[in-house]
Amino acid sequence: MIPVNEPVIGKRERELVLECLDTGWISSDGPFIGQFEERFAALVGRKYGVAVTNGTAALDAAVGALGLEPGDEVILPTFTIISCLTAILRAGAIPVPVDCDPHTWNSTAEAILAAVTAKTRAIMVVHIYGLPVDMDPILAFAKERGIAVIEDAAEAHGLTYKGRPCGSFGDVSTFSFYPNKHITTGEGGMIVTDDEKIAQKCRSLRNLGFNAQRRFVHEELGWNLRMTNLQAALGLGQIERLEQTVAKKRSIGRRYRELLHDDNRLQLPPERTTGGENIYWVFGLVLSDAVSFDAQEMMHRLAEKKIGTRPFFWPMHEQPVLKRMGLFKDMSLPVSERIARRGFYVPSGLALTGEQMVEVAAAVKEVLA
Ligand SMILES: Cc1ncc(COP(=O)(O)O)c(C=O)c1O
Repeated sequence: MIPVNEPVIGKRERELVLECLDTGWISSDGPFIGQFEERFAALVGRKYGVAVTNGTAALDAAVGALGLEPGDEVILPTFTIISCLTAILRAGAIPVPVDCDPHTWNSTAEAILAAVTAKTRAIMVVHIYGLPVDMDPILAFAKERGIAVIEDAAEAHGLTYKGRPCGSFGDVSTFSFYPNKHITTGEGGMIVTDDEKIAQKCRSLRNLGFNAQRRFVHEELGWNLRMTNLQAALGLGQIERLEQTVAKKRSIGRRYRELLHDDNRLQLPPERTTGGENIYWVFGLVLSDAVSFDAQEMMHRLAEKKIGTRPFFWPMHEQPVLKRMGLFKDMSLPVSERIARRGFYVPSGLALTGEQMVEVAAAVKEVLA
């Protein structure tokens, strides 16, 4: 089987993780946590970094830190992972999903601005699959109206928008370090911000809301979202190879484009937008309407040929659990509904070889033939 993803762990990561084992610093009290937070925040040009257990937790703390109130609305893409939506619900606010662009799969400024009401308190932007959201119009509007911007850059390590790093745009921005990310810590996440109060609030939420003066006294309710020193060690080693990782991912993307561009039954991800160049977090494909079966069937047939795949996100407004809660009744967001049914992604891990890419492309074309 050619796996859809396979992380690459280098010598430096091994050395740093072994140092944790040798010194006994394995909990969240170890010295690598602070170093990782500083290095990562600097990488994306932010003042503060708060390391947490995963990207979902990062969103929970980031949204939790904004002090939203019941009835406040937060706009988010429908085409994303449920972590974005659960963070909004857990903060007691109302999620307002919007559709995405059929080519970049990112939500557009037009769709976001059209969803703004008098109750909109925040806009959550999510950079999807390796291309940046067109931030300028969203940031200008949010600034003018005093609306907070939450930037989910979970998939966007090494991605830039108009030359600036993704993760530098939100009042608060978040990352994931799951093994399919361009930087991994196994499981892990990070909140970055320039706002000291938000950073402090996230630190408190991360650590059960402990009172700084008297341990075990709580002024607010938090969670245990603490990252371990072992994970931070892995992350510090991974940061050093980010440039190399992005270069490899781009070369995978370019090669797949060469191998598949002549097949008009497939829609490929764009190499760039006016905002920036694709870092191909994943290499997504969307089946054209000329193909008589859907992505589910396509993935099944590729699995028979020993090619690993994953489906695209399933839209938030179509989630059974949310429908049962009475949310998004009769909502229709057709672009996301279509790509959820016709989109999937193919192997693009860092260990992927040139021969494997040729094999994947040939298998895709054979199934479509
Ligand atoms: C856009 C986006 N946000 C958040 C997450 C959640 O990150 P984690 O899996 O680390 O909880 C992911 C995970 O892939 C993601 O793609």
